[in-house]
Amino acid sequence: MLNHIKHDIDHGTPKRESAEEVSLTIDGYKVHVPKGTSIMRAAMDAGIKVPKLCATDTIEPFGSCRLCLVEIDGRKGFPASCTTPVESDMVVRTQTDSLQQLRKGVMELYISDHPLDCLTCSANGNCELQDMAGVTGLRNVRYGVGAQAGAHHCDAKKDESNPYFTYDPSKCIVCNRCVRACEETQGTFALTISGRGFESRVSPGQDQPFMDSECVSCGACVEACPTATLQEKSIISLGQPEHSLITTCAYCGVGCGFKAEMKGNTVVRMVPWKEGKANEGHSCVKGRFAWGYATHQDRIKTPMIRESISDPWQQVS
Ligand code: SF4
Ligand code: SF4
Ligand code: SF4
Ligand code: FES
Repeated sequence: MLNHIKHDIDHGTPKRESAEEVSLTIDGYKVHVPKGTSIMRAAMDAGIKVPKLCATDTIEPFGSCRLCLVEIDGRKGFPASCTTPVESDMVVRTQTDSLQQLRKGVMELYISDHPLDCLTCSANGNCELQDMAGVTGLRNVRYGVGAQAGAHHCDAKKDESNPYFTYDPSKCIVCNRCVRACEETQGTFALTISGRGFESRVSPGQDQPFMDSECVSCGACVEACPTATLQEKSIISLGQPEHSLITTCAYCGVGCGFKAEMKGNTVVRMVPWKEGKANEGHSCVKGRFAWGYATHQDRIKTPMIRESISDPWQQVS
């Protein structure tokens, strides 16, 4: 059964297990969640999406982008909802005029150092930065964009050394999701943020390309990236998929579940399936990237039989 492309719901922060339940109010709705849950995830449980960029539910929250700020009765300032755990009887507001202004201000800073080429960008239609520009109502950027804004990274050179994905630093918002995915999901620790402040950049090692680094091409960082900075080469050449099918990796006995994302009968991307019991949304390089066999001319599509080891193979029904 084919499904129209639906991106998995991102709850923002990982699920917490606890026998103790906490009740709070978010935007006027009563919510009950396990102790330790973030406000962001509790809001998602109530169907309320808090704007976010540096959080995603497969890795621990980091609290760097400042888009997910909320107001909490009795608390000063605007805490980040991804890193603030729920407390009993909290009263939280996720949408107010002040929050809207703050979020718009943050987006202005991001976009002042981001190429404005969404229409020709490989992430067009599946980009969280683009989504957040929409959600926050960004209409102009007071600082200018790229060269108009002064210092910028819009001309930064791409790293295309990896056969399966590219790294385009001009689109990086330094959200650290890739670094955390490499550490927490894959456990390879190939990435770091080098430099300080404005000079901060994702780096697979001092002045070395991805292919010369510790990277094992598992793709967890690519999946975690909210922009086109880390992008599958298949998406760059074929464009975004239009339907998907749940399947099992054909390589080994682990039996990883995958969402095969396609256009017609052409596979565009293989995404490790979050519900897959054997792999829970992660996989090795083979399952995620080495699926060229699916449409290879040598692929055997019917059962074959031979009388003895010296006889030629024959197709059977
Ligand atoms: S990464 Fe996103 S915001 Fe940036 S150009 Fe591409 S689509 Fe637009
Ligand atoms: S592809 Fe995997 S190993 Fe390589 S940097 Fe990304 S997460 Fe780390
Ligand atoms: S490469 Fe992507 S995930 Fe990593 S810091 Fe940049 S924007 Fe974030
Ligand atoms: S999503 Fe909470 S600070 Fe970025």
